[in-house]
Amino acid sequence: MKGKNPVEQAIISRRTIKAFKPDPVDVEEIIELLNVAKWAPNHKLTEPWRFQLYTGEGKDKFVQAYVDSQTKADGDIPEKVQRKSEYFRNIPLHLVVIMPEDPRQRRWDEDYGAVSTMIQNFQLAAWERGIGMIWRSNDWIYDPVFREAIGVQPGEKVVATLMIGYPKHIPNPQERTDIRERLMIIDN
Ligand SMILES: Cc1cc2nc3c(=O)[nH]c(=O)nc-3n(C[C@H](O)[C@H](O)[C@H](O)COP(=O)(O)O)c2cc1C
Repeated sequence: MKGKNPVEQAIISRRTIKAFKPDPVDVEEIIELLNVAKWAPNHKLTEPWRFQLYTGEGKDKFVQAYVDSQTKADGDIPEKVQRKSEYFRNIPLHLVVIMPEDPRQRRWDEDYGAVSTMIQNFQLAAWERGIGMIWRSNDWIYDPVFREAIGVQPGEKVVATLMIGYPKHIPNPQERTDIRERLMIIDN
């Protein structure tokens, strides 16, 4: 990445990680990174976020909430769900990012924007330290069973589950469109 400064390099080289090494990630390091990420732009400084970090045996609670949300009425747990739950269990950390759902549309949008930039700050700062993650927004984060099982309150939104660890495999980037194709310059 010739000619790119370290911030630019981190932005361009970061990838969504799905395959993780089993090596643990230090919780204190995650806290440190979140304390960096919180410097995201945030209109009215609402700091519209709270986090639930699942580590060690605590991960079972997260995984169980996922399984409960996917369990059929007759109690059957589809094989795909069983496989996925095993995969989730082996990922070092799960961080759930939660925001308040402000009934005012403008404030809701501003808060969602702030949380999103906070998450991206976190992804980039972690990437710089060799820590990877995937931002997941699967259907089950909207599922009342999952929400209740992890203690999300009415009036709160799960923005993301971030699954975190040291990358085992870094995928190739998917090309992005040259921004000139999306840019209209109006200069007179
Ligand atoms: C709001 C949001 C939700 C996402 N949800 C998922 C998801 O549920 N599953 C998934 O595999 N990736 C998810 N991603 C990651 C994107 O798929 C990923 O960023 C995209 O494929 C580009 O890959 P890259 O991040 O490596 O550049 C999400 C990303 C964002 C910003």
